[in-house]
This record gives sequence, structure tokens and C-alpha cells, in this order.
Amino acid sequence: MKLVRTKADLRTLRRSWIFKGERVAVVPTMGALHAGHLSLVEAAKKGADRVIVTIFVNPKQFNNPGDLDQYPRTEDTDAAKLAPYGVDALYVPTPDQIYPDGFATNVSVSGVSEVLEGAHRPGHFDGVATVVSKLFLQSRADVAYFGEKDFQQLQVVRRLSQDLDIETEVVGCPTVREPDGLAMSSRNVHLGSEARAVAPTMYRAMLAAGTAIQGGTPVDHALEDARAAILTAGFDQVEYIDLRTSQGLKPAGDLSQPARLLAAAMLDGVRLIDNIAV
Ligand code: PAJ
Repeated sequence: MKLVRTKADLRTLRRSWIFKGERVAVVPTMGALHAGHLSLVEAAKKGADRVIVTIFVNPKQFNNPGDLDQYPRTEDTDAAKLAPYGVDALYVPTPDQIYPDGFATNVSVSGVSEVLEGAHRPGHFDGVATVVSKLFLQSRADVAYFGEKDFQQLQVVRRLSQDLDIETEVVGCPTVREPDGLAMSSRNVHLGSEARAVAPTMYRAMLAAGTAIQGGTPVDHALEDARAAILTAGFDQVEYIDLRTSQGLKPAGDLSQPARLLAAAMLDGVRLIDNIAV
């Protein structure tokens, strides 16, 4: 695995692969890699000849400076975790490779990025859309792998890629969970042991709501019950729990179209998000 720190070096590598007609995949991450990230790497290995993993803790997508400072940075252990996967390049750009002096462009996706996470984290999806556009263009990857764990982010990325005629195909991969159901996340390490035991109740409440809705319970009632169950279990706040259309994330009052149940809640000072298909 080649460690690459500049876009020029990445481009040289990419050219040598294109020359041989090889298909290139990119897996964008912010590091602190866990089995969820590694599942994307595995999918990328199956779907392409060459795999680039990127690690960049993108300051533009953190609406909360404390969250940015707290974000785990573990490049060496990340590289060690990737070693068995046959990754071709680990791209860890220095900040000036992404945001050089004078950088003044913002990629902003309207509609799908304005609700849910977008409503609660102002500027977050502009930061994501801008850095993902740059990573797509710097890597010129044929295909990029993203997790359904961040379902709204996946929709935002699909939209920007289509709208900007970026020829990188966007592939979504299922959420990887701990044995007790908690969705894997780099933020889970900040949960104290008591909170860690409470954390999976959000997913369980979501599954119960999904089953109730499928059984004919009105959506509002099912969501209220889930919200109450999450708070009773010990979460401090439920920022949202909502049923949306899987395409476009429009409010879904019933199951006439494929739907997604999405939630964000605070526990022990940690913001957890999750989503399931209904
Ligand atoms: P990060 O949170 O590091 O996640 C990188 C990728 O891993 C994303 O596509 C995310 O959805 C996926 N992922 C995280 N947890 C997962 C899980 N439990 N199961 C499956 N996939 C999972 O998302 C970002 O970084 C950034 O916003 C980024 C796209 C890199 C732009 O900065």
C-alpha cells in the first residue's frame, strides 16, 4: 500500500493504472477505521482493480468546533488495519492539498441536504459535498463506495455526482453493526460504559417502529412510541426520528413508496445517527 500525501502523486499513480486499462475505486473516510469502513474497502476490492482509501478529517463539514477537536486521529493504526486488504494507495492529503490558500468554492446541494442532518447541522453537507467533489476529481475514480450508515450523505453524494457530470459511479453499502445492533461509528469510542449499554436501544426502537408501521400502526403513533422508548432508555434528546421516501427523502406518511426511517439522538454528549429501510 502506497502512502500518498499530494494530489500530484495521486494523479501520477492514477495515470499509470489508467494506462493499463484498470478500473479504480475510491473509499473516502475520515479515518479512525472500524469494520464499517473495512466493509467498504472489501466491496471496493471486489468491484475494481485498484483501490484508493482516503483519510481526511474535513474541517468544513464540522459545524461544531469541539467535535472537530475531539475527532479521533489514528493514521498509523488505520494503515495497519488496511494492510490485509490489498489496498493500492492510502491518500492522506495535507490540508493545503484540499483547501489551498485562496480556496473560495463551495459545493452546495439543495433539497435533499436541507432536511434531517442538514437542518440540525448547518453547513455540514456543504462541507461534505465540497470535499467529496474534490476527492472524486483528484482521484478520477471510476467508482466510489459509501455506507448506508450515513444514508442522507449517500443521497447528497449521488445528487452532486449526477448534477456535476462527475463520472464516478456511487455505490452504497449496508450498515455494519455491533453484535447488539449498534451501528458502528468512529464516535462510539466516546460513549461511557453505561451509555454504551443504552446505545443499541435506538436501533431497537427503530426496528419496532418499522414493524408497527408495516403492521398498520399510523406513522405518527409509531414514531412517538419510538421517541418515548429512546428517551426512557436514557438518551438525553431525540433530535429527529422521521419516516422519509428512500428516493429524495421527502416526508412519507405511509408505505406507498420505499421508505427509510432515520433518527439522530444525543447520549452521554455523543450524537448518534441511524437509519433502516421500512
Ligand atoms: P466517515 O464517517 O469516516 O465514513 C466514511 C465512510 O464509511 C462513509 O461512507 C460512511 O457512511 C461509511 N461508514 C461509517 N460507518 C459505517 C458503518 N457502520 N457501516 C457501513 N459504512 C459505514 O462519512 C464520512 O467519513 C465523511 O463525511 C466523508 C464522506 C469521508 C467526507 O469527508
